[in-house]
Amino acid sequence: MPLVNIIDMLSQATEKGYGVAAFNVENLETIQGVIGAAKKTGAPVIIQTTPSSIKYAGIGNFYGMVKATMEEERIKSPVALHLDHGSSFELAVKAIQGRYSSVMIDGSQLSLIDNIDLTSRVTSIAHLLGVSVEAELGSIGGKEDELEIDESGMTDPSVVARFVNESGCDALAVAIGTMHGFYKGEPKLDFNRLSQIRNNTDKAIVLHGTSGVPDDIVQKCIELGVSKVNYATDLRVAFTKALRDSVINSPEKYDPKVHIKLAREAVSQVATDRILMLSRGRSF
Ligand code: 13P
Repeated sequence: MPLVNIIDMLSQATEKGYGVAAFNVENLETIQGVIGAAKKTGAPVIIQTTPSSIKYAGIGNFYGMVKATMEEERIKSPVALHLDHGSSFELAVKAIQGRYSSVMIDGSQLSLIDNIDLTSRVTSIAHLLGVSVEAELGSIGGKEDELEIDESGMTDPSVVARFVNESGCDALAVAIGTMHGFYKGEPKLDFNRLSQIRNNTDKAIVLHGTSGVPDDIVQKCIELGVSKVNYATDLRVAFTKALRDSVINSPEKYDPKVHIKLAREAVSQVATDRILMLSRGRSF
């Protein structure tokens, strides 16, 4: 089964009323956990890596591990390999050359004109090769990767149509009150803003910073038009907790597989739970 881009995957999700989970992975075991969850549920899944994960393990390793795990598991549901928060034109091109099937270019810290310019340069190359492009409009706060953004600038619905048309992006990450990382209190989302954004484009809408957002709020976002739902922190917490508990509880065991296998299972469980929550029983 080849990797697919996210365009058909997300338009099918919108048609059928479910959200597709996009999980950030860090290593072989998180990839195995996520692909295991996709196999168990039959759901399409997006596997994504940030620039710092790429710095850690390399584009070639991620592509190879994802492809090999898909073959090993004989996975039947669609899988996309996506660059999350691509920080430069050059990195997006490297991911495309490295056979990622989808890339995000994050120009959210630029002016509108410069964000459009950067995104359209990536789009013009990506689309030649059937690779999809996610862009960000407005600025999602919190800590993502090596970037800490204090102030989240909400997405302005009145510029959405222009941004999408001029940049040519396939999916739009929106700032509607979610934040990357851990929430200090209950997240407050601007549903009205999300509805206005939906009214101004038919492109896929992406929710970032979903770890820690209550299920009913996430499901409401899907009803209002979100089709890609990003999770990173939840998986990291599950992995690290399980690994730490195992090492502390069995200090006499030195085979890393003994410990890391439990971390892999914890990731798979969380990924399965999230996939089922996003689909609410709808068929894929
Ligand atoms: P969380 O870490 O809050 O789940 O955010 C993930 C994300 O949006 C990745 O881009």
